[in-house]
Amino acid sequence: MDKLEDLRAELLSAVESASDTDTLDKVRVAALGKKGQITDLMKGLGGMDADARRAAGAALNALKDAVAEAIDTRKQALEADALNARLAHERIDVTLPVRPETAGTLHPISQTIDEVVAIFGQMGFTLAEGPDVEDDFHNFTALNFPPGHPARDMHDTFFLNEREDGTRHLLRTHTSPVQIRTMKTTEPPIRVICLGRTYRCDSDMTHTPMFHQIEGLVIDKATHMGHLKGVLKEFVEAYFEVDSVPMRFRPSFFPFTEPSAEVDIGCSRKGGELKIGEGDDWLEILGCGMVHPNVLKSCGYDPQVYQGFAFGMGLERIAMLKYGIPDLRTFFESDLRWLRHYGFASLDVPTVTGGLTR
Ligand code: PHE
Repeated sequence: MDKLEDLRAELLSAVESASDTDTLDKVRVAALGKKGQITDLMKGLGGMDADARRAAGAALNALKDAVAEAIDTRKQALEADALNARLAHERIDVTLPVRPETAGTLHPISQTIDEVVAIFGQMGFTLAEGPDVEDDFHNFTALNFPPGHPARDMHDTFFLNEREDGTRHLLRTHTSPVQIRTMKTTEPPIRVICLGRTYRCDSDMTHTPMFHQIEGLVIDKATHMGHLKGVLKEFVEAYFEVDSVPMRFRPSFFPFTEPSAEVDIGCSRKGGELKIGEGDDWLEILGCGMVHPNVLKSCGYDPQVYQGFAFGMGLERIAMLKYGIPDLRTFFESDLRWLRHYGFASLDVPTVTGGLTR
């Protein structure tokens, strides 16, 4: 019996001093496992006579239960300790101040692009793209600028170095080359807008060497100037967020449209404040016209079957008019004070129904 008492003391002390669950499990296997000390003693019961077996059996069972219970209690304590240690380690101080709001805003050009895309998107136009570095064919020749034509000089083109074959690439001077690229790869009917960077060697209050244009192109079998006027009126009223804007189409010249027009919108400048849609003053905002038959031909279209219209305008210009920005050059100075003043909240996506500007 003393032996059992000793074993009990020994096992319980081993359980108590186990400092982690792995060690505790080893103690359990050494006592209660298949070859454990208590299991061994139990095997010895078979060789005893009935009375001795009853007494020894009861004592062994009591020992076994006591050890199993001690292991269980110790296991729970160790697991609780481990959990507490982990919680202490991964603790987050929820009283810390939250991160400050991001200070960034959307540049007025990005905002204007979003607005224009929302308006023309709702009218069923899709977006077309073309490269900034163009060749002479797409920027000029296919657009009915014959070689040596004076209209080429008016574009103040940036040319790249001459290539081995004598040709020179250039930075596109307008978005109109995208008309050519679209017509050459798409079956009519076509209804696209193209937005992007354009380049001319010029710099003053109203010109920067890089600026943005938006171009529209519609080609179908029965398009006419009335459709052009309707689309532009719809656009101008939606963009400037006024019910009605008077428009004036003045005859003009572009090599790639015939007839060509420049469009003015009605405004007032009373007291130095510009108001679109009222008053008896005029403001020029864009160029447009019916696509020239030579342009249609250069894209493989039969001008007897297909015709259409195109228009183009400067994005900075319409942004300046809408948001009262006086100097074009400030768009590209990256002055943070300017950006904070004229920038837009980045999460307010313009939609025609939900509002363009909030
Ligand atoms: N590409 C012309 C420009 O840059 C604008 C324009 C586009 C005119 C389409 C008519 C039709 O001046």
